Amino acid sequence: MSSEKDFITIKALEDGVNVIGLTRGTDTKFHHSEKLDQGEVMIAQFTEHTSAVKIRGKASILTSHGEIVSDTKK
Ligand code: TRP
Repeated sequence: MSSEKDFITIKALEDGVNVIGLTRGTDTKFHHSEKLDQGEVMIAQFTEHTSAVKIRGKASILTSHGEIVSDTKK
């Protein structure tokens, strides 16, 4: 069942972190953007519609491959 697939968690480490969903298929386009403020958490899956996720801003991202911390350009 697709609702039981792996999920990733994104925890914002600053205000205004953007979680952007990119479409699956030949065209890779933004289809969803979610704004998180510091301390907010989003739990998401890769789906039939979403093949990639882009994160802008400082956040802690946890996947089955481990944790990675994104940052902003200095
Ligand atoms: N409607 C989108 C989908 O089912 C919702 C979604 C799932 C999403 N995972 C995401 C949006 C990750 C942004 C980032 O694919």
